Amino acid sequence: MTPRTLPGFYASALVLALSAGAVQSDTLADYMDFFEPLPHLPPIPADNTMTPEKIELGKMLFFEPRISASGVISCATCHNPALGWSDRIPRAVGHGGQVGERNTPTVLNSGFLESQFWDGREPDLEGQALGPIQADIEMNMTLAEAIERLKAFEIYRQHFAEAFPDDPDPINPGNVALAIATFERTLNTPNSPLDRFLRGDVQAMTGRQVEGMKLFVDAGCVACHGGPALTDSNFHRFELPGSRDEGRFLVTGDEADRFAFRTPTLRNVAVTYPYFNNGSVDNLHDAVQLMGQQMLGQDFTEEELDSLVDFMHALTGEMPRVEIPALP
Ligand code: HEC
Ligand code: HEC
Repeated sequence: MTPRTLPGFYASALVLALSAGAVQSDTLADYMDFFEPLPHLPPIPADNTMTPEKIELGKMLFFEPRISASGVISCATCHNPALGWSDRIPRAVGHGGQVGERNTPTVLNSGFLESQFWDGREPDLEGQALGPIQADIEMNMTLAEAIERLKAFEIYRQHFAEAFPDDPDPINPGNVALAIATFERTLNTPNSPLDRFLRGDVQAMTGRQVEGMKLFVDAGCVACHGGPALTDSNFHRFELPGSRDEGRFLVTGDEADRFAFRTPTLRNVAVTYPYFNNGSVDNLHDAVQLMGQQMLGQDFTEEELDSLVDFMHALTGEMPRVEIPALP
């Protein structure tokens, strides 16, 4: 047997041993301790309780194009449910076909993030929600006009009253943000192969995915991509060839934050290509290779890259079942 075939042999031996329940779980359990299964819901803030009425209204607003100046762009245009709740293009295209500076992150599991946007400029989903409506390169709308348009529809008057029963004048920007954020907190993807594996279903991941999981720990990826959403919600310097985006520095003005970006979630990363803050890398192989080189000073072998990429595929969970709302 040549050395090249060894890892494959060990991988299949591991699967056999696992399925026979013969492996000493000690070492594997040590690796598994670095991960957490994704809960079905993220933390719910005390000042924005989750109710079915708010979820329903938030869903309508998420798909509502008339809160954009053109009347054709909704949140779902860029965070498209059919495209991993993202857009699969390098940089977002918004109002008047303008191309923004950054790649559209998925909104899946965004309730688990401790800050929003690549530069973390908003602390939570409530703070995030009104930004894109007003951004000139996204929906290019004034909030006053968005509210006027919503007030014109009887069905929205009804839904806002049901979602905010204690508010005498419920159609206002604050409530739009509360409702959209509530809907977004339902967009979670539990039960990925990794989650099932962590809960004891040893068959849920392939042998090579298990190898990838171990390497992910041993190489140090998990230091930044840890916790239930596989992000530390922290900012790290990362320079992409040709990019002049200064990242977190634009928010803090702190020299140490120049070119730093928030660690993105790796949940569903296999379906949220292209990658990185400017979407310049279109496949996981190259994305993982670049991470190894820049974040860890390590050049992985092709075999190592394959197992890490396979592990990334084990992070795809069950997509939320969202019925597209009928809008007025
Ligand atoms: C024109 C495309 C576009 C539209 C429309 C749009 N977004 Fe986004 N969204 C983006 C881009 C691009 C980013 C990243 C921007 C940045 O980091 O500076 C983003 C970031 C986000 C984030 C942060 C996710 C993370 O990982 O940090 C959330 C949440 C979000 N958008 C929700 C919404 C909601 C809600 C709406 C509708 C009110 C909306 N978006 C409309 C393109 C869009
Ligand atoms: C020092 C912290 C750190 C380490 C270590 C690290 N990452 Fe990252 N990772 C980040 C940050 C920050 C980004 C976002 C970079 C950007 O686009 O500006 C990122 C982005 C990614 C992406 C692209 C995700 C997307 O949606 O665009 C993948 C895939 C990834 N990392 C995998 C890995 C793997 C695999 C390892 C180990 C080989 C690793 N990372 C090590 C911080 C880290």
